[in-house]
Amino acid sequence: ADDGTIPVRPPTEYAAAVASLPLNPASKLKLRCYQGVWVLEDWVPGIMAMQRSFSTRPGDVVLASFPKCGTTWLKALIFATMARTAYPPTSPAHPLRRLNPHDCVILLDRLFAIGREAVLDKLPSPRLMCTHMPLSVLPASISRGSDCKIVYICRDQKDMVVSMWHFANRARPDISLQEVFETVCDGTCFAGPVWDHILGYWRVSNAEPNRVLFLTYEQMRQDPVDKVRKLAQFLGRPFSDTEEEAGAVAEIVELCSLEHLKNLEANKKGSQGVFLKFPYDSYFRKGVVGDWVNHLTLEMAKCLDAIFEENFKGSGFTL
Ligand code: A3P
Repeated sequence: ADDGTIPVRPPTEYAAAVASLPLNPASKLKLRCYQGVWVLEDWVPGIMAMQRSFSTRPGDVVLASFPKCGTTWLKALIFATMARTAYPPTSPAHPLRRLNPHDCVILLDRLFAIGREAVLDKLPSPRLMCTHMPLSVLPASISRGSDCKIVYICRDQKDMVVSMWHFANRARPDISLQEVFETVCDGTCFAGPVWDHILGYWRVSNAEPNRVLFLTYEQMRQDPVDKVRKLAQFLGRPFSDTEEEAGAVAEIVELCSLEHLKNLEANKKGSQGVFLKFPYDSYFRKGVVGDWVNHLTLEMAKCLDAIFEENFKGSGFTL
């Protein structure tokens, strides 16, 4: 649907409001605190515009995630699940065989930041969109509306820190692991604090399980077939007996596997992003649960665990 004809026009009317927001002096990325969340300065006007003008359509699906928690994988899985009639997973013409998953699912935060939200009007229903923002700053039609389903993914914070550091390094080699660790701990990393991010979606997923599906990277890694089945059910498109017998779930899992996507030409070259450019291949690394042991000291791990334990106390949330 995005034929490139809609021009890039970052919103300018919020410049004064953005300039008045607290700036994080400790981060090499320019982050401003907007309504309690740390957002790239260049994205804040887009978040403001999204709050003001975005409205859902019946059938909309929003994938929400804290960065580096499995967004790329889930984008691919939801896209493949929703598009399976038009594009059976084994089809050689499947979009995921020629496009990076981030080019198959629009990131609302960036789209509004570059003023190209008119693209959304062109998308056929049901639309699949993505956000890294916490529920608290999303437009009410997403956070509280009944037209839209939300699929959320989070991950063990130690693996997330390591993943974030590797990723940030591809665009900004001057960012150290210590710096990423410290900004996650004090809540000032991009989209942070991460515990608020997780808890916002966690609470609504408990109160309204038909509206918010809460997933973790670890559960997905453990049994992706089961989770894709649950995903399809949640989206109101359960796999039929015929599809089950034909192995459609396993085919989707295979199509979207790290090994498969990583080795596609489409994901080896090129880059994505407007304010910061990220090579396509930077979205696919190891995908190993517990890889933090190779990078974090025991003190760092204990510190992260303690902060999360403290913040999740009484919430019922465990990984
Ligand atoms: P690692 O850095 O631990 O390897 P995001 O997509 O939210 O940016 O998260 C990136 C993390 O998900 C990276 O973790 C990446 O390797 C992993 N990942 C990307 N695609 C995946 C896939 N198809 N299956 C499993 N993990 C995937």
